[in-house]
Amino acid sequence: MNILFMGPPGAGKGTQAERIVEEFGIPHISTGDAFRLAMKQGTPLGLKAKEYVDQGLLVPDEITNGIVKERLALDDCNKGFLLDGFPRTLQQAEALDVMLAELNRGIDHVINLKVDRGFLLARLTGRRICKACGSTYHVIFNPPKQEGVCDKCGGELYQRSDDTEEKVGTRLDEYISKTAPLLDYYSGKSLLREVDGEKEIDAVTTDIVTLLRGSL
Ligand code: AP5
Ligand code: ZN
Repeated sequence: MNILFMGPPGAGKGTQAERIVEEFGIPHISTGDAFRLAMKQGTPLGLKAKEYVDQGLLVPDEITNGIVKERLALDDCNKGFLLDGFPRTLQQAEALDVMLAELNRGIDHVINLKVDRGFLLARLTGRRICKACGSTYHVIFNPPKQEGVCDKCGGELYQRSDDTEEKVGTRLDEYISKTAPLLDYYSGKSLLREVDGEKEIDAVTTDIVTLLRGSL
């Protein structure tokens, strides 16, 4: 099953992706995670991406498309994949169509996690992530058992540098101007599935699994 997750920053894409890839045994491809890893390693890609990510701006399409193209060509994507945070511009969506056509693959579902803007700031500023395994928590909505420590691996939790109030504002503006128009693009292809992302985390997972299982 080939799935795309759409939704504004903080909608819960990463949180739900962790669970859905486990349920369906498919790889999780997150362009945000790929950029953060490259930034941490200080590679040329990371240094370039940092100029944009740190300001809450989208990384240019040519850079982002290249990463996804390489990743989708790997063998583990034969069993399906979940793309999280890509595409985010019309140019990326069109490039993805070409990449998938070349690989004889298509998109089965585009899941849009719908969350009102009013919820997003609190979700993002309270988010904490495990340095070791990347698991996502929230200080109020999904707290770890022990403050600052990952339940799964005992790793230390940190706050993303773009999760400040100012940068969240820029990220939301980027989403509205560049990414939201993609909903019409996928709705026009009859691929768009809306999920209420304002419910509790477990309830959202149940809704997504039900939707995906219903189509198998
Ligand atoms: P990326 O990492 O993709 O960030 P994003 O889209 O801004 O999304 P987030 O990771 O912030 O949110 P999420 O929806 O995954 O929410 P989460 O599950 O963590 O991108 C970062 C940057 O990289 C971009 O700004 C850009 O610079 C660059 N980039 C990435 N892809 C790019 C592309 N294609 N093109 C160009 N540039 C690109 O949840 C948020 C919090 O809420 C968590 O704390 C969680 O515990 C909590 N939560 C989740 N669900 C619920 C719920 N149902 N109820 C209560 N709390 C919840
Ligand atoms: Zn961990």
